[in-house]
Amino acid sequence: MSENFDTKAVHLNNTASIESKSKTRPIYQTSVFSFENLDDLEGYFRGEKNYLYTRMGNPNVNDLAISVAKLEDAPEGIAAASGMAAILAGILSIAGQGDHIVASKDIYGGTHQLLVEELKRFGIEISLVSFENHSNVKEAIQKNTKLIYSESITNPLLRVEDIHSLVQIAKENNLKTMIDNTFATPYLYQPYKDGIDLVVHSATKYIAGHSDVTAGVLVGHTDLVREAGQRISNLGANLSPFEAWLGCRGLKTLHVRMQRHVENAYKLAAVLSNHEAIDKLYYPESFSNRGNGAIVTIDITKKCDIKTFFEALSWVKIVPSLAGCETSVSYPVGTSHRSLPETLRDQLGITEGLVRISVGLEDIEDIINEFDQALQKALL
Ligand SMILES: Cc1ncc(COP(=O)(O)O)c(C=O)c1O
Repeated sequence: MSENFDTKAVHLNNTASIESKSKTRPIYQTSVFSFENLDDLEGYFRGEKNYLYTRMGNPNVNDLAISVAKLEDAPEGIAAASGMAAILAGILSIAGQGDHIVASKDIYGGTHQLLVEELKRFGIEISLVSFENHSNVKEAIQKNTKLIYSESITNPLLRVEDIHSLVQIAKENNLKTMIDNTFATPYLYQPYKDGIDLVVHSATKYIAGHSDVTAGVLVGHTDLVREAGQRISNLGANLSPFEAWLGCRGLKTLHVRMQRHVENAYKLAAVLSNHEAIDKLYYPESFSNRGNGAIVTIDITKKCDIKTFFEALSWVKIVPSLAGCETSVSYPVGTSHRSLPETLRDQLGITEGLVRISVGLEDIEDIINEFDQALQKALL
């Protein structure tokens, strides 16, 4: 090593390697990997080395993807910069120009927007139909249909998808299936085990779990996931090592958080289902033997003043997302489903008084009291 200051400043902190093993996985915060010589470099292309350039692969990103794949009992996984990026990559691994997708109408607004606005640019046709009755799915299938797309628990009205029926329809018509499992998480349900080809997560939500990460994970059949991985790399939709590392940290407590989330949600739903200020409550029944999810959606359009309700919340924050440790509320009409045509929102039941509650990890008495006092103040 040169003794010149400028050279030392650039090189000194790159050389250290330590013998002691760290307890936790180090963060490979590097955009690229280095090689001893040209043969070593060729080793990557011969498949002897896993990493070349972080956009194409990184140990932390791989950790997150493979961990979620294992929890879903799927053979392969890939992580992406966001849930949306993972959804796009998954779809593009199955459908291309001239192909057609049948998707459920009552999905996350961002996915709806991706399907109707972006996929057209790729020459992919979409039919959005009500999946409440699967005869609609069968009727929507065309000669060029490649994929059936839905969510295991839909956002925001929490309809539980009949996965077995979708898989059956797909088999009969030689189609692939893709399910967004964000609300359920692999703790509550693993759609791949029931025959779904690709399972996607907005890891931004429960997987990372602390509202400080944006990430997506796609798991499923090896060939499809690898194909999606190529799309992520080509599109530059890769996840950063630090966000992946945070995602892995979150994943370690997924089961513990979900247990409490689900328990609190169940108790809150029980109290609110009899509340005088609520027109309608949405909460899945018998979703899985570990619980029914941690989101409770209420419709207070007729009985409350919605602005007063939001203003009356004292410590629960208005947050256009979900799944953090803190209980939060979101307003689908104003945020997640804002881009949907009003007529579709009305059809689906996404009303002016719909509130999606992401039930957190606090003491359940405090959560119940907070909603009760806000509803009492908002009551017309
Ligand atoms: C069910 C569902 N899928 C996908 C997404 C998109 O995820 P991301 O924001 O990580 O891109 C969201 C975001 O809210 C969601 O709720």
